[in-house]
Amino acid sequence: MNDAKPTRRSFLNYVLGGGVLATLGSVVYPAFRFIVPPPSGEANVSQLKLPFKRSDIEADPQRARTFKFGRTLGIIVASDAGELKAMAATCTHLDCTVQHRPDLGIIWCACHNGRYDLDGKNISGPPPRPLERYVVNEVGEDIFVSREGA
Ligand code: FES
Repeated sequence: MNDAKPTRRSFLNYVLGGGVLATLGSVVYPAFRFIVPPPSGEANVSQLKLPFKRSDIEADPQRARTFKFGRTLGIIVASDAGELKAMAATCTHLDCTVQHRPDLGIIWCACHNGRYDLDGKNISGPPPRPLERYVVNEVGEDIFVSREGA
């Protein structure tokens, strides 16, 4: 049987050890929380009703509007033929946001002069692949956008 009583030194060692652990925890935990991203509250969206109408898009000087589509940004464009075309607004090169250039009839990425046609196909510049196309459905005044195959 061990009859050793705790000494003042062992008590101080416990207190010191606890202090060191608390200090390490106060440094490591915030660093860990910074590195690990928080869980996203947004679900993946497959269909969306746009918060504006065709007349809003056509009245826009760019003849286009961007919209939040789940975690990403989308763009809807009114073509000269009156067709609404929607696609992801994130350039496939380095993720810059693209814009409609009605003067050139293209979707343009200002970061590295990437160019897409109005169907989202990459036609020149560094973008390696087309923009993701969305399906557009108009129901009365409402515009619905959905992922292809959704
Ligand atoms: S990020 Fe769009 S062309 Fe480079």
